[in-house]
Order: sequence, then C-alpha cells, then structure tokens
Amino acid sequence: MAPIEVFAPAKINLTLHVTGRRADGYHLLDSLVCFASIGDRLVLSAADALSLEVTGPEGAGLPAGPDNLALRAAACLAGEAGAAMVLEKALPMASGIGGGSADAAAAMRGMLHLRGRVPGDAEAEAALRLGADVPMCLACHPLRARGIGERLEPVTLPQLHAVLANPRCPVATPDIFRTLERRDNPPMPDPLPDLSAPEALLSFLAEMRNDLEAPARAVEPVITEVLSALSALPGCALARMSGSGATCFGLFPGQGGAASAASELRRAHPDWWVADCVLGDASDVARPRAQ
Ligand code: C5P
Repeated sequence: MAPIEVFAPAKINLTLHVTGRRADGYHLLDSLVCFASIGDRLVLSAADALSLEVTGPEGAGLPAGPDNLALRAAACLAGEAGAAMVLEKALPMASGIGGGSADAAAAMRGMLHLRGRVPGDAEAEAALRLGADVPMCLACHPLRARGIGERLEPVTLPQLHAVLANPRCPVATPDIFRTLERRDNPPMPDPLPDLSAPEALLSFLAEMRNDLEAPARAVEPVITEVLSALSALPGCALARMSGSGATCFGLFPGQGGAASAASELRRAHPDWWVADCVLGDASDVARPRAQ
C-alpha cells in the first residue's frame, strides 16, 4: 500500500470561555473552534512495527520516543499492525494552536485510514484520554466545544482569512490556567446565533472573549505586543489569542489583505513566527502521498 499523508491543521479558538472547574482540576470550557489551512503533515506507511521520525522546520527538540503524543495515539490503534510515521512539524510547539493534539489526531486518522476505517465513538474516547484538545482535532471541522473539550457540536462558519503570529515563547498551559482569576465566567449564548455570514460572525466574536488572554498576558507580556501589532495591521477586523497562547490571530476581509499584512508583520518582527492562512473546515485530511 502506498504511503498516505495526513494533514494536521492548526486549531484556532475563535473564542474560549472558561465556565467552571471539575473536581479533578480540569476546566470547563465553551469555545468556538475552527481549523487552519496550515499545519503539520504526517506520512504513514504500513510496517510491522510502529516507528516515528520527526522532521520539518519546527521539529528540532521534539522527542520522537514513546512519550511523543503522535506515537502514543498510533499505539492506541496499532493492534497487530504497525506503521512507519514521518512527522513534518510546521507549527511551533506549546503555542496554543494544538500542534501536539493535531499530530495525535492525525496519527489516529492515519492508522484508521490504513485499515479502511474512519474515527467513531471509541476513537473519540481514546482521543480524550490523550488530551482534552485531541477529540476536536480528530473532528477538525468548525465546532463548539464544551465540557473539557469532549462535548462537540458542528457549527456552520464562513471561511475566514487570518494572520497567525507567535513571539516564539513557549507557554505551559497549566501555568496559564493556574493564573486565571475567575473560573466561573459566562458561557456563550445557547443556542448560538446564525454565524454563517462573515459580518454576523465578526460582530458576534467582538462580543465574546478568550478568558485565558489576561492570565497569559500577565505571564508573558510579549503577548500584549503581539495583539497590538496584529490590531494595527491594515484591514485587521479582530485580534485575539488562541488557546492558552502565545499564538494570536488577526482576522482580515480577504486573502490578499491577510498575505500583505503577514509580510508587513514579518518585516517588523523577523524573530516572530508569522503565517497567513484560511480558517474553516479541514476534515478532508487523509490523502495518498503525492509522488
Ligand atoms: O489535556 P491536556 O493534557 O492537553 O491538558 C494540559 C493541561 O491543561 C492539564 O493538565 C490542565 O492543567 C490544563 N487543562 C485544563 N482544562 C482543560 C484543558 C486543559 O485545566 N479543559
């Protein structure tokens, strides 16, 4: 069987409301999530045993041993068969856009694809055991996530054009949750309004929040600089942090606007990781490896 390539798109939290905390310390969230046209790539070939090699511009420093989340995810589904996996990292690590979770979800999707299967309820449960963001990355279409990230509902969103910017400071998610002042913030409205038109989505987002933004800015003040720099770019309709940071996104009316804004930001901050992309649905992500 020819190797297959699975795209592991960046996950963007357009909103992230922290609404409570469970007895085990995990936080209850209400988050509007979509997926980016940029991400890591996982190439899988059928093999007798499981193996992983890490490559790509963001791969340095990511251990490929048994603790690697992609390897642990593949191991959940390996059964009798293995796979030789090559992970091309394009997303910065510990950056609030779900890179590790996306890789784990891609490994699950790839292992299933090699056997002609698609993810079901059992895989969603296995995904949650790997990490709170893995089930949404397995779905990888626009959705509302509640619970700790396991209650997922599809949402119809328009395509958005975005610039992602990370100041190259890795953020430890537990540190940001620990610094949070209030854990009982209001959720998003239920049901959500119709968000299928760009204008409706933008005005809705302007009323919503990422409750982790304030604690993340307190821990890493450079995040405030990233948000100001994005907001100041011509055409930026909204700038917000994703996940627990430090990656922030700016939304732009069109692809050209996002691309030129990204170039301007790269010129001003050559030391930051900057990417322009489309946000939306990335659920059609397993394909034969182009020869
Ligand atoms: O599930 P995952 O390993 O990705 O979570 C990393 C850490 O982030 C957890 O140990 C917890 O401290 C925090 N977290 C949380 N509530 C969530 C998700 C993550 O408190 N819903």
